[in-house]
Amino acid sequence: CGIVGYIGLNSASTILLNGLEKLEYRGYDSAGVTILNNNKLTTRKFSGRLERLADSINQQPIAGTIGIGHTRWATHGEPSDVNSHPQLNNDQTIAIVHNGIIENYLSLKNFLTEQGYTFYSETDTEIIANLIGFHYENDLFAAVRKAIKQLKGTYALEIVSSKHPDEIIAVRYESPLVLGIGEDAFYLASDIPAILNQTKKVIYLENGDLVRLTKEDYEIYDQADNKVEREIKEVTWDVEAASKEGFDHFMLKEIYQQPEAIQHTIERRLDDEGYIQLDDIQLSKLELNAIRKVYIVACGTAYHAGLVGKHILEKALQVDVNAEIGSEFRYNDQFIDDKTLVIIVSQSGETADTLASLREAKSKGARILSITNVVGSSVARESDDIFYTWAGPEIAVASTKAYTTQLVAFYMLGLYFGRLKGTLSDQLYKQHLNELQSITKQVERTINNCIEPAKVIAEKIKDSHSLFYLGRGLDYTSALEASLKLKELSYIHAEAFAAGELKHGTIALIEEGTPVIAIATQTKTYDKTISNIKSVKARGAYVIGITTTDNEDIEQVCDKTIYIAKKSDLFMPILSVIAPQLIAYYTSLAKGNDVDKPRNLAKSVTVE
Ligand code: G6P
Repeated sequence: CGIVGYIGLNSASTILLNGLEKLEYRGYDSAGVTILNNNKLTTRKFSGRLERLADSINQQPIAGTIGIGHTRWATHGEPSDVNSHPQLNNDQTIAIVHNGIIENYLSLKNFLTEQGYTFYSETDTEIIANLIGFHYENDLFAAVRKAIKQLKGTYALEIVSSKHPDEIIAVRYESPLVLGIGEDAFYLASDIPAILNQTKKVIYLENGDLVRLTKEDYEIYDQADNKVEREIKEVTWDVEAASKEGFDHFMLKEIYQQPEAIQHTIERRLDDEGYIQLDDIQLSKLELNAIRKVYIVACGTAYHAGLVGKHILEKALQVDVNAEIGSEFRYNDQFIDDKTLVIIVSQSGETADTLASLREAKSKGARILSITNVVGSSVARESDDIFYTWAGPEIAVASTKAYTTQLVAFYMLGLYFGRLKGTLSDQLYKQHLNELQSITKQVERTINNCIEPAKVIAEKIKDSHSLFYLGRGLDYTSALEASLKLKELSYIHAEAFAAGELKHGTIALIEEGTPVIAIATQTKTYDKTISNIKSVKARGAYVIGITTTDNEDIEQVCDKTIYIAKKSDLFMPILSVIAPQLIAYYTSLAKGNDVDKPRNLAKSVTVE
């Protein structure tokens, strides 16, 4: 979910709509606002896309210069008008928007029901609204303070009341919230793009912060109820970076941004002598040498980057490296101690399962290094060491440039650690670094070369019910990411298989015409993959090969081939994922799907 708030001199509904539009990637199954005007609350909320709310406000504007807004991704209760936010308390004097989840909502609901309260929605948010109402004694701030002490779970909240005509109260606890400082106004938002059109001055609120906003001033109180000053930071991205810039979709724009994003991530970290310098990583040689085990923990696409990271870091660190899924890792009771390094990978830095894993590992004494794209995100703030992927904001739900820059992060960490630990000779270090630097141009060429074949393949596969991606080793990790991309965007059932494993069962699914996309870039296993291709071909599969330019013999066993630039095996994952990204994009387009916002998905999953 995403929330916004505004208090100032201009039309609140206009500013809130503008902000919500930028937050739609956080969820988009319903949206709503409450505007406070002269002791009156006006709430407008609808299930479905933000357009419904925007149309309603355009047709019937809401006067007022104070308001709160929400875009929802359902957790409690189906998407419906009544379950949309803002939620109001029983006497309709308090309206709130909420991002997060209240774990003890049932016991609170029972308690409030006994007190005579009625609940109209299935949301946990309505409970908070009534809990604040329950504690209210002419002071909204005090009531919120009392109510939040009873909440268990995660929440970013914004609250307005008809009894307080010049006030918004906001709280941040385990869900992101920033405060924007304008000329004659204050803004609240789950994420920076929502307020970038208005101001670049922001305060990243801390866990437990309680904020009181009036038109003139703001006050922040920490969890211990002390009034605190928080540093105002200047955002360095511009609004354009968060818009489509002439591309039909954010996803296509972000695919095209990959060379630039990769270059940023690499170049700004090289010192005058061409060595990698990582300012946000404090891990010393001594500390690194003491590390006995590494876990890489992430979800979704970031997890796939972690699988590549495992290959890279095992070579560089010469210790065991395991890549784990966030929602599994946190409950697995891993043996973790102060000799364990846990690498957290998260584009948003807010994924609940990933964050919970971070905390779990930290509590057991592990050193936490995070790879994230969002400065000031929860993951970044709770880590000991950080590697920021400088990919810029990624808006499309399906991740592309964040993924390839996460891969770059692993290559750079591998080189940096390898040098620090002495496992890499200077010569090899330079050779690998050169190879990494030269990838930018190859990525650009690969994108351009893959566009047309991807369109043709999209037409070919768009009506298929099922598709298989095959690969071995690092081609298998690309196959996993490739099939996830296709599933997310085209809704075609797609599965990735380690090519050698196919014969142990899955090959039974191959029928006449079943599309199989084989990624074959790894020199060590190329011949074996060709044999696997032959065996699916013999059973009627329509085979598309993705390989490097020197492997033309693949045409003898494939119905169609996409050629990509060649690098040494270890670096191929950056290049081999590009054709699958484009295939997923054009298939989604060919099927008339919503490319940037596939059904049932959210960009940032802040619930467990
Ligand atoms: C969601 C998104 C995925 C993403 C995953 C992890 O499920 O739809 O695209 O890979 O979250 O997100 P993170 O921000 O932690 O990388």
